[in-house]
Amino acid sequence: SEGIAILTSGGDAAGMNPAVKCAADYAAAKGFKPWLVYDGLRGLIDDKIVESNRDLISGILHRGGTFLRSSRSKRFFEIDFRRQAYENLKKRGITKLVVIGGDGSFRALNQFYSDFGVPFAGIPATIDNDIAGTDYCLGVDTALNMIRQSVDSIRDTATSFSRAFVIEVMGRHCGYLAMVSALACGAELCLTTEIPYDLEKIGAKLKHEIKHEGRDHIIAIVAEGTKMADYTTRYINDSIGMEARLTVLGHVQRGGSPTVHDRIMAYKFAVAAVDSLIAGETNAIMVYRDGTFGHLPIHTVVDSKYKIDASIMRLVAPLCGG
Ligand code: F6P
Repeated sequence: SEGIAILTSGGDAAGMNPAVKCAADYAAAKGFKPWLVYDGLRGLIDDKIVESNRDLISGILHRGGTFLRSSRSKRFFEIDFRRQAYENLKKRGITKLVVIGGDGSFRALNQFYSDFGVPFAGIPATIDNDIAGTDYCLGVDTALNMIRQSVDSIRDTATSFSRAFVIEVMGRHCGYLAMVSALACGAELCLTTEIPYDLEKIGAKLKHEIKHEGRDHIIAIVAEGTKMADYTTRYINDSIGMEARLTVLGHVQRGGSPTVHDRIMAYKFAVAAVDSLIAGETNAIMVYRDGTFGHLPIHTVVDSKYKIDASIMRLVAPLCGG
């Protein structure tokens, strides 16, 4: 029967494993032969493609990252390597692809579609939540819970020692993780590139609270993309006058067992992806908007900028002093 191959590509995110498992199971239930591509685009070129079976996809659901592994492949930009990838699919009767990843991976697969006409369905997965057209990308909830746990534990030491902590969270372009974790963890300050901030103004308010209201600790969440973590730490220490420490959370945020939310979202995205291929979509990206699953043409997704939920932005604004 006709083959559908599943791959994960770009930055790994929790929820990729349940998405792969569900896509394979659902494709089989719909009469396709499911295949797994290891190592992302690199594996497509290097022929790391195996037929899915019960053994390969059991025991993976609760694991973070992607058991298929992922990569960023420069070779895939070259037509000769893409042709090699196409031959690998053709010889196995694979006619459709499900790709779980981000913008870069979608663009690469769209180029592949223009070259050789292999339809694909994209499932948005990145902890940054910075893909346009969808309210949610796989991995975000798990990353937020990892951050929440770390910030809660930093708060324990901050309150015990009357200190300020600046915590840098991931998001090279997007402040979503910073905003939501700042709200969920009760931070006093949140810096992102999306909301204008005024450190002086926030600083004056905090100084007042320290002097008159007994404030004895500060939690500041700074998005990686602002490159403001060091500066903010010095600012709190030197200008606000509270001993400050910096914690860069780093890649711990990308790991961890997928939360219930990420698992269920993974299943729903996977079903939407296989269904869209069955319906004859050739290069669509699955999206979740206003509580509904659907899909959008790839260009609408990769050529637009993500939008952060306006109600989140409003809640965060007071933490920016803007
Ligand atoms: O997954 C996206 C992201 O987490 C960014 O927020 C971060 O800057 C980047 O990945 C780090 O990527 P790398 O694994 O290449 O260091």
